[in-house]
Amino acid sequence: MSVKWLQEKYKASVITVTLDLGQQEDLEAIREKAEKLGVERHYNIDAKDEFVRDYVFPAIKANALYEGKYPLTTALSRPLIARKLVEVALKENATAVAHGCTGKGNDQVRLEIGVRALAPQLKVYSPVKEWGMDRASEIEYARRHGIPISAKKHAYSIDQNLWGRSVECGVIEYPDQSPPEDAFTLTVPAEKAPDRAETVTLGFKGSVPVSLNGEKMDGVSLIRTLNAIAGAHGIGRIDHMEDRVVGIKSREVYEAPAATCILEAHKDLEKIVLTGMELRFKELVDSQWSYLVYAGLWFEPLKRSLDAFIEAMEGRVEGEVKLKLYKGSVMVQGRSSPFSLYDFDLATYDAKTTFKAWASEGFIELWGLPTIVAQKVLSSKTCEAKVKNKNETLLIRDFVGDGKSLHAFHGHQQLYD
Ligand code: ARG
Repeated sequence: MSVKWLQEKYKASVITVTLDLGQQEDLEAIREKAEKLGVERHYNIDAKDEFVRDYVFPAIKANALYEGKYPLTTALSRPLIARKLVEVALKENATAVAHGCTGKGNDQVRLEIGVRALAPQLKVYSPVKEWGMDRASEIEYARRHGIPISAKKHAYSIDQNLWGRSVECGVIEYPDQSPPEDAFTLTVPAEKAPDRAETVTLGFKGSVPVSLNGEKMDGVSLIRTLNAIAGAHGIGRIDHMEDRVVGIKSREVYEAPAATCILEAHKDLEKIVLTGMELRFKELVDSQWSYLVYAGLWFEPLKRSLDAFIEAMEGRVEGEVKLKLYKGSVMVQGRSSPFSLYDFDLATYDAKTTFKAWASEGFIELWGLPTIVAQKVLSSKTCEAKVKNKNETLLIRDFVGDGKSLHAFHGHQQLYD
């Protein structure tokens, strides 16, 4: 529809671009549809390998989960789409690019910032935002121009690629209601999953998955295979209350079977390879990385610096993780690594341990010193502070040591307990 709109409104000669990111769509049918609409040229670009290598792999290294839950399935594809749009636009000497996002989501932000960061000279059009049609008028517009649309396909707003599938709209907009079964295509419901558990082993090298059950695989095949295996066990359904970058709280449903398994395994492997110091610091980096990518700032220099940091730390994240898949859940069952920092002789409760238990006494004395000293001082005193409130002075009194007893006094009136 956007194509027709651009042709009509701007008398534009339109070139269309569709990327294959593993979304399992009939790209030839899309080409035919575009050609029927009278586009100057249509590009189908197979970008699966690039997507996995340059977008999904860095996300794995960063344990990328926005707000602790969303594996950024859609978000990761947007900077790549922006890049390819720009590549084609420059090759074709186009003066503008256009996209079909609405004005309410994150995708417009990601695509427009991406294009403008890479080629600021290009104008960006967003027909769906411009035309301001409601759903009924859109259907009418499509009908008038003989553009085929299927109502079933449009029950939800779906975005899919190898890393997973995002589902929005319809009943999903009511956050208290269960997502209907027809919203899912990559996973079975847990109760329909096999009664028998399945164990898979993921091999990692350079912090990315390189083998499945001992068989070496390229990223695309590994993710595709694991999607099928884990999806059949009902793994990777995610129901998320999400804070969009445009300020809206939105209920989102995802399916990401392979991503769920790989991220679980990767995080686990990191724990045997990295020091506690490294792990604690990396959590901050990971969450900042995920936020930048979610928020459309893939090309922000900070993200590049975080990538460099992650790269420097992650080289030795190598080894195998065994996962048990059973009725919608994935459980780590074991891990090993040539760079493992686990020292059996130190860890064992056996009498032969090399750990110097006698050293603990002095350690505890010094490690706890600041806490013990502070508690001694504070438990003998109460803290008072004067706070200005509506031109009156309130006295806040905190009886330290009793977490519940924060009182605010106004005169003699106790405001809360
Ligand atoms: N909420 C997700 C995100 O912002 C998914 C967006 C899905 N996009 C779509 N067109 N259905 O990344």
